[in-house]
Amino acid sequence: MSGVIELRLARAVDAPGIAHMSRELIEAGLGWRYHPPRIARLIADRDTLTLVAEDRAGLAGFAILQFGDEHAHLVLLAVQPRCRRQGVARRLLAWLLESAGAAGIAELGLELRAGNAGARAFYRALGFSDAGLLPDYYGPREAALRMVRVLRRSDGAPPAWHAPTLRRS
Ligand SMILES: CC(C)(COP(=O)(O)OP(=O)(O)OC[C@H]1O[C@@H](n2cnc3c(N)ncnc32)[C@H](O)[C@@H]1OP(=O)(O)O)[C@@H](O)C(=O)NCCC(=O)NCCS
Repeated sequence: MSGVIELRLARAVDAPGIAHMSRELIEAGLGWRYHPPRIARLIADRDTLTLVAEDRAGLAGFAILQFGDEHAHLVLLAVQPRCRRQGVARRLLAWLLESAGAAGIAELGLELRAGNAGARAFYRALGFSDAGLLPDYYGPREAALRMVRVLRRSDGAPPAWHAPTLRRS
């Protein structure tokens, strides 16, 4: 790691770095769908919030959230290996969750590769629940796990959620 890691809104100039992180850290073996022009379009899109985290060495992480009327979709999230387990993804997600809450979003959803145990553990730690397995979602024999975090019940009240604690036996 290279010092303090700061978060900010992404700019067009960030598109190539984000796209390359996506290819290496998220899309490895799947083909490159989130290439620089597509990322640039997401950064420019008014219904999409793209955040980056950076340190002195450059891009440390990023997250992309697309807003619908009541549902928001976490498109991509990744942190450089050198910056992991320092709370960077937690901070990125906290910003997105706060924005989604302010926008009146009821539920935030995402898909991840079913075998991605690290990301699944991360999302579970952040209050997401498994919402279904999607066979062949990324191609033959590459399933996705859908996860959701409810932000607001249909009666308008935020759901109770508590940080997970170690289970005592
Ligand atoms: C998943 C990922 C984004 C997590 O980023 P991170 O910045 O390391 O996560 P944080 O430091 O904010 O972790 C917060 C908590 O999540 C959990 N967590 C994070 N990574 C974990 C892992 N690999 N295994 C188990 N739990 C994990 C822990 O509870 C952690 O808290 P702790 O470090 O105090 O124990 C990162 O590992 C990554 O970029 N992976 C590759 C890309 C990817 O899989 N993206 C998600 C699918 S699109």
